[in-house]
Amino acid sequence: MNLSGNVILVTGGGSGIGAAIATRFKAMGNPVIICGRNKIKLQAAAENMGVNHIVCDVSDEQQVKAMLEQINQIYGHLDILVNCAGVMHTYDFFSDPDTASRIQTEIEINAIAPLKLTYAALPLLQQSSHPAIVFVSSGLAYIPFFATPAYSGSKALIHHSAQALRQQFKKHGIRVFELLPPITDTPMAEGVDVKGFKKSSPEEVVDALIDGMLKEKFEIAAGASRQLRFMSRLAPGFLFKQMTQAFEGK
Ligand SMILES: NC(=O)c1ccc[n+]([C@@H]2O[C@H](COP(=O)([O-])OP(=O)(O)OC[C@H]3O[C@@H](n4cnc5c(N)ncnc54)[C@H](OP(=O)(O)O)[C@@H]3O)[C@@H](O)[C@H]2O)c1
Repeated sequence: MNLSGNVILVTGGGSGIGAAIATRFKAMGNPVIICGRNKIKLQAAAENMGVNHIVCDVSDEQQVKAMLEQINQIYGHLDILVNCAGVMHTYDFFSDPDTASRIQTEIEINAIAPLKLTYAALPLLQQSSHPAIVFVSSGLAYIPFFATPAYSGSKALIHHSAQALRQQFKKHGIRVFELLPPITDTPMAEGVDVKGFKKSSPEEVVDALIDGMLKEKFEIAAGASRQLRFMSRLAPGFLFKQMTQAFEGK
């Protein structure tokens, strides 16, 4: 697909993988809007990248509605929605007193919000002649990680939903991509070290995304996520054990 001249919304575009995606799309000649909750961080990132920004918590329906109205007023349509905003915590149900709230936020932000935002954005996407959606899940959609119980589940949900929606949206001309990053060097993965897994850079992850979108490869497993996909089919029990033993951070 053509990756220039598109109006693109990148949720969570103020840092990490989202910021790298926004930067690359901007450099490829697309008008880009980023959103996030922290106004100061978002504004600084947007100025740095030369993109538009809208403060929005994607798990808040009213804020999502207001953001889409603003995009409608400025651009009249949306070509590509990149659902990248996410949160991750490592915790143990027996020792972390914040377990209940961590479960709640991870499921709300990583699983429910991207699906509801996608639904709410359909009228704007349908104003585009070549609409597309990118769901950013994770290599952990292929195999769960014991230290991120709700996060792993939230990404598996998005993996399944992306496949289902790809089929549903086909007849409406909306392409549905899924990007499955491996462990990547961003604020989210700070302090999370898994032996044998070198962190990818956000730019490497974006290289895979752009390559996949240009080739219309809809399930884009970047870097080590390709090995996770292969091993999760070949020897899931062995892979799960290896990842458990290799965890060093927290
Ligand atoms: N880093 C990794 O190892 C890795 C691996 C696989 C998949 N991923 C996925 O890649 C995506 C990006 O993660 P990252 O590593 O780039 O992490 P990051 O640097 O922490 O970026 C996450 C961004 O999402 C925003 N965000 C969080 N909750 C939000 C909400 N409710 N509404 C709007 N924005 C929100 C944050 O900004 P505010 O806090 O200002 O809202 C932040 O800018 C996530 O979906 C993550 O699960 C990451």
